[in-house]
Amino acid sequence: MSSRFDEIYARSLNDPHGFWAEAAEDVHWYKRWDTVLDDSKPPFYRWYVGGETNTCYNAVDRHVEAGRGAQNAFIYDSPVTGGVQRKITYAELQDEVARFAGVLKSIGVGYGDRVIIYMPMVPEAAIAMLGCARIGAVHSVVFGGFAPNELSTRIDDCKPKAIVTATCGVEPGRIVQYMPMVEGAIDLAKHKIGKVVLLQRPQQPVAPKAGRDIDWHEAMAAAEPVDCVPVKATDPLYILYTSGTTGQPKGVVRDTGGHIVALKWSMQYVYGVDPGEVYWAASDVGWVVGHSYIVYAPLFHGCTSIMFEGKPVGTPDAGVFWRVISEHKVSTMFTAPTAFRAIKREDPDGKLLKQYDLSNFRTLFLAGERTDPDTLHWAEDMLKVPVIDHWWQTETGWAMGANCIGIEMLPVKPGSPTRPVPGYDIQILDGKGKRLPAGKMGAICVKLPLPPSGFPTLWNAEQRYIGSYMAKFPGYYETGDAGFMDEDGYIFVMARTDDVINVAGHRLSTGAIEEVLASHRDVAECAVIGVADQLKGQLPLGFLVLKAGVNRPHEEIVSEAVKLVRQEIGPVAAFKTAAVVERLPKTRSGKILRGTMQKIADSADYKVPATIDDPAVLDEISTVLKSVGYARR
Ligand code: COA
Ligand code: AMP
Repeated sequence: MSSRFDEIYARSLNDPHGFWAEAAEDVHWYKRWDTVLDDSKPPFYRWYVGGETNTCYNAVDRHVEAGRGAQNAFIYDSPVTGGVQRKITYAELQDEVARFAGVLKSIGVGYGDRVIIYMPMVPEAAIAMLGCARIGAVHSVVFGGFAPNELSTRIDDCKPKAIVTATCGVEPGRIVQYMPMVEGAIDLAKHKIGKVVLLQRPQQPVAPKAGRDIDWHEAMAAAEPVDCVPVKATDPLYILYTSGTTGQPKGVVRDTGGHIVALKWSMQYVYGVDPGEVYWAASDVGWVVGHSYIVYAPLFHGCTSIMFEGKPVGTPDAGVFWRVISEHKVSTMFTAPTAFRAIKREDPDGKLLKQYDLSNFRTLFLAGERTDPDTLHWAEDMLKVPVIDHWWQTETGWAMGANCIGIEMLPVKPGSPTRPVPGYDIQILDGKGKRLPAGKMGAICVKLPLPPSGFPTLWNAEQRYIGSYMAKFPGYYETGDAGFMDEDGYIFVMARTDDVINVAGHRLSTGAIEEVLASHRDVAECAVIGVADQLKGQLPLGFLVLKAGVNRPHEEIVSEAVKLVRQEIGPVAAFKTAAVVERLPKTRSGKILRGTMQKIADSADYKVPATIDDPAVLDEISTVLKSVGYARR
């Protein structure tokens, strides 16, 4: 007998036009679409062609007009700044966003222009995003843990008219000064920035640069509010850069109409949340989770969203998540498994949990990396609510695999994000593109078209869009993840097929770290692998082969290399360990055997590849790995 989930899922694949037209009825349109899905130019698919809408109107104004003006849209809770809190109603948000749109207009930003937002977790970050959406400008949020070089690459790629930033971020025990990074990036970039909108934070006042910097508060006080502008459903809402395949970040484009429809739909059917409820994604606006589930989806659905500036532990303790859930009556929370591993490590018996009333709390969602069964069971035991692993990517903007509790809760299988979400025809393919039977590992692919919100292209890089994602398996989107599906159609995501590693739920490219290491004057050759870490899931580990004749102490070179990565990519890379080796293991054709090195480091079983040039190198690598604390078994 087929379940409610089976029926909805089957309909989404058999009649995508009807399915997504119906979902789109829940969205405000200035003009309805002419075509639900334009599939005339594969692999470029467009949703709701001919339709006109506005993201900010659907997130904010619509709710004020419908009587939600007095409800909180955001609750900002900031334990890192000593417990500052701020509640912003939908009516207040409408006022602030309309005025910020006015600020943008006053500095010459209009429809189609790009704006980089480099902000910590403060409400102004969301206001800036929504302000861009209000006037049809395209935002590109850059995570605050990235270094000037990463910021400058993004400036040169998307050529923004302005940057919106703050004077600092606040990390436990240290203030992260933003202006030196912004100045560094502006100096490095070829594209010249006209204006910087600067939010002065009390922790770090900075003198503005005359002629360029505009003070957030002064500009807001003087600004004329601006109304929402109808934009095409197919217009870009944002560009979000992500890692993979090479060191050069990819500018994932999110379009307007499909994004609103899919995210609004997901709140009800994936997360089982009602309008008016309090929803909390403990992530950062710099990541896709933050875009989708701190800012857009909860607002599309008329929920209250928590904006949390803190960490799961140490701000001040491992009970902070429970305090926030209890104090703000959170019904649904979304975070990364690493956050729960951090809490479990500090408070394994959940002593702090017992101090709080979590009676409103219904469901915990985890994503960003695979939820390991230990963490799953611990969270279930502690919280006594369903704990749902779900799987998704920057490229899709919402879950591809989940237990859609808003439709029906399916049995949980530890280690699996459950089944494909309606709209996603997920298939496991072998190297030749042949569909694999249940239980067999292969490339996890989605048969095209992707459902609404799936990225229509990469910014200014159509060929790369095809080359990176659509070329290997024609007719499919290649997710870059490898895994299998079982007899019940459950997905198991086991590994990446490219250079991506996942550090504390953050997606990083080992290729990008290698590029930085290779730029060190003493390094002839290098390799970076992701090694298993109990807290962060994976950590990057570097191997350096030095140029002939270099005879400085190895510790000195390693320490410089570590500093260089922090300086060029940022602290978020968490690159702390590297070792000098005589040579790297390679195939006879010269390919570095990173996979084998990773298996040795993690003490996993491995076969010496038949194509290896010199098997003795593996013993050398193993010895070096032991000396830095790996390959112990
Ligand atoms: N601006 C500047 N620096 C930042 C930053 C930001 N926005 N975010 C992180 N950093 C820095 C940290 O200060 C740290 O620097 P350090 O090397 O000087 O200590 C480094 O980047 C690594 O940060 P982080 O990954 O946060 O590690 P941590 O050791 O401080 O904390 C966890 C570990 C598990 C508590 C933390 O990673 C966490 O809360 N993860 C949740 C993951 C998440 O939200 N993922 C998003 C996808 S859902
Ligand atoms: P990002 O684009 O930064 O969200 O990273 C997406 C990648 O993170 C995916 O391609 C996976 O490799 C990994 N990922 C995210 N969620 C999960 C999950 N629930 N299980 C396994 N891997 C995940």
